[in-house]
Amino acid sequence: MNAPVDQRPVAIVSGGSRGLGLALVRDFLERGYRVETFSRSESAELKELRAETDAVAWTALDGTDAAAVEEFVRTAARRHRRVDVLVNNAAVGLEGLLTLTAPAAIDAALRTNLTLPVLLTRACLKPMIARRSGVVINLSSINALRGQTGVAVYGAAKAALDGLTRGLAREVGPAGVRVVSVAPGYFDSDMTAGIGEDQRRRITRRTPLGRLGSVEDVLGVIRFLTSPAAGFITGQTIAVDGGYTC
Ligand SMILES: NC(=O)c1ccc[n+]([C@@H]2O[C@H](COP(=O)([O-])OP(=O)(O)OC[C@H]3O[C@@H](n4cnc5c(N)ncnc54)[C@H](OP(=O)(O)O)[C@@H]3O)[C@@H](O)[C@H]2O)c1
Repeated sequence: MNAPVDQRPVAIVSGGSRGLGLALVRDFLERGYRVETFSRSESAELKELRAETDAVAWTALDGTDAAAVEEFVRTAARRHRRVDVLVNNAAVGLEGLLTLTAPAAIDAALRTNLTLPVLLTRACLKPMIARRSGVVINLSSINALRGQTGVAVYGAAKAALDGLTRGLAREVGPAGVRVVSVAPGYFDSDMTAGIGEDQRRRITRRTPLGRLGSVEDVLGVIRFLTSPAAGFITGQTIAVDGGYTC
C-alpha cells in the first residue's frame, strides 16, 4: 500500500538561522507548515528547534552560489512535492558612502540581496505554477522607499526587489501565484545591532508611533499576507514602519 500523501503546506525561508528568518521558521511550524531553510551557518536556536521536530530542515548553503540554490529548491520540491510559500528573507547589510565602498563588497551585497532572491523565486515558481497556487514574500526595506546616506547600494537592491514584486505579480498572477514585498522599518536583530543610541533616538523621533519595530511587528504582517485573508493582495509593497515613510 502507498504511504498517505503528506498534506501539510511547505514554506521555504531563506536565512532562517536568526533574526526575522528564525522567527518565521517558528511561526510557519506553529501554523502547521513543513519548513525548508538555509543559511551559511546554523545557530544554536535553529539546532534546538530541529531536535524538537522533523518538520523543519536546514541546509548549509551560501546563497551567492547559484547552482547550490537551484539544487536546494529541486531537492525540497522533490521531497515535499509542493512549495506553498517562499519568503526571500536572507540579506546582508552594507553601510558606507558609495565612493568609499569597494567594488567587491558591492558585488557581494548585490549577489546576496538581489541575485539570490531572483534565482530562488525563479526556482520556486515552477512547483507553485504547477499547482496553480503560491505566495512569494520579498523582504524589502524602508531604504527602498526613502533615500538615506550610507545605504544606497542596500536600498538599490531592495528597490529592485520591489520592481521584481510588481513585474512578477503580473506575470504569475494568472497562474494563481501572489507576490508581495514587505518593507520594514528598523527592528532589532543582528543586522541593526550596530545602531547607536543617537541614531535610535533620531529614528524614534521620526516615527509617528514613537518606537523602533520588532520582529513580531513584521511577522504578523507576513502571517496575514500568506493567509487566505490576503488572497486578493499582490504586486504591492507594504511598509511596516510605524509610519516612518508616511
Ligand atoms: N533588521 C532591520 O531593521 C531590517 C529593516 C528592514 C529590512 N530588513 C530586512 O529583513 C530581512 C531580515 O533581516 P534580519 O534583521 O532578520 O537579518 P539578520 O538577523 O542579519 O539575518 C540574516 C539571515 O540571512 C542569512 N544570510 C545572510 N547572507 C546569506 C548568504 N549569503 N547565504 C545564505 N544565508 C545568508 C543569515 O545567516 P548566515 O549569516 O549564517 O548565512 C541570517 O540567517 C532582511 O532581508 C533585511 O534586509 C531588516
